[in-house]
Amino acid sequence: MKSQEKKTKALFLHKILIMTDFGTTLQEWYNINGRPLPWRKTSDPYRIWISEIILQQTQVIQGTSYYHRFLDAFPNIDALALASEDEVLRQWQGLGYYSRARNLHFTAKTVVEKYDSNFPSSHEEIIKLKGIGPYTAAAIASIAFGLPYPVLDGNVYRFLSRLKGISTPIDSAEGKKKFEKLANEILNIKNPANHNQAMMEMGALVCRPKNPTCDECPFHDECLAYQTGTIMEFPIKSKKIKQRTRYFNFFLIQPKANEIMIDKRNGKDIWQNLYQLPLIESDEKLSEKQLNRKTGIQANLISETKHILSHQIIYTRFFAADKTSIDQFENNNFEQINTSKCESYAFPQLVVNFLKEQKLPGYGTS
Ligand code: ADE
Repeated sequence: MKSQEKKTKALFLHKILIMTDFGTTLQEWYNINGRPLPWRKTSDPYRIWISEIILQQTQVIQGTSYYHRFLDAFPNIDALALASEDEVLRQWQGLGYYSRARNLHFTAKTVVEKYDSNFPSSHEEIIKLKGIGPYTAAAIASIAFGLPYPVLDGNVYRFLSRLKGISTPIDSAEGKKKFEKLANEILNIKNPANHNQAMMEMGALVCRPKNPTCDECPFHDECLAYQTGTIMEFPIKSKKIKQRTRYFNFFLIQPKANEIMIDKRNGKDIWQNLYQLPLIESDEKLSEKQLNRKTGIQANLISETKHILSHQIIYTRFFAADKTSIDQFENNNFEQINTSKCESYAFPQLVVNFLKEQKLPGYGTS
């Protein structure tokens, strides 16, 4: 064998050894430390899909109760496909990112119609479904079908960037490629499901964003960031998210003590198709007087709150107004509902919180 060939072969064997060591160490750590989360006890693609979409936006503890609640309401893909969008949104209430719930509903109908209610089992078909991007497709393909696709979520990016000291921003095209290549190289193709769960678990339990427990990490000897004291500098991001500031003025209008006016949101904006109280959006924070001058509505401020979403900060004021104010709203399609029916509508969480504080008859009273 020529010397160059020998060198290549040695390097290759070295790489295999490192990968095997990595996979074995990771698996051993996971076998002892992995949490017995409900979606880890199933290979049903429907359940795994639901869990992954819920977990994209919430922590495991809160996600677990939503997972059970959602599956109680829609135990299988047919039940989800048959439900009304209002009902799906209501079950999603409080999780935020409501487009994800609408996409779940849409995709459930697609799977029922196009695949005879059987979740497609190839990565190529899975990734074509609405609301399923590279992360979710890899999670479903690997966890439900044992296919060799590595997942890259925030936990995995953080773990890998620290382990290898990668300073290419994770939100750049170059960074994405680099991490994907590395994730593929270290993937345990014999058990991609457990490998992926273990990678996410490392990021969630040990290689945490704040206060990582490096002393307990089985990889700290080879972790570049740990060895160079730069753990908190990783992962690197290039963009700062631009946040838009908005001012929402909601009106509690009660034609009778046990009735309120509500409105269905439409148009391409946050909370699409959810219900809310009659709303006037303004460019700045408005006092009762300013509001009256601008809209003609005689309103009394009840409370205010600040709501932070990923790309928006919403300063919200809730006002009480009497029923004559309804005429001041342009083209309104308000519905007059009994307060005891509030539970059947999907409202954004900040509206739910406000309504519950008002102790309206049949809603929010203990
Ligand atoms: N976050 C995203 N997916 C997860 C999973 N399968 N287990 C734990 N946390 C997760």
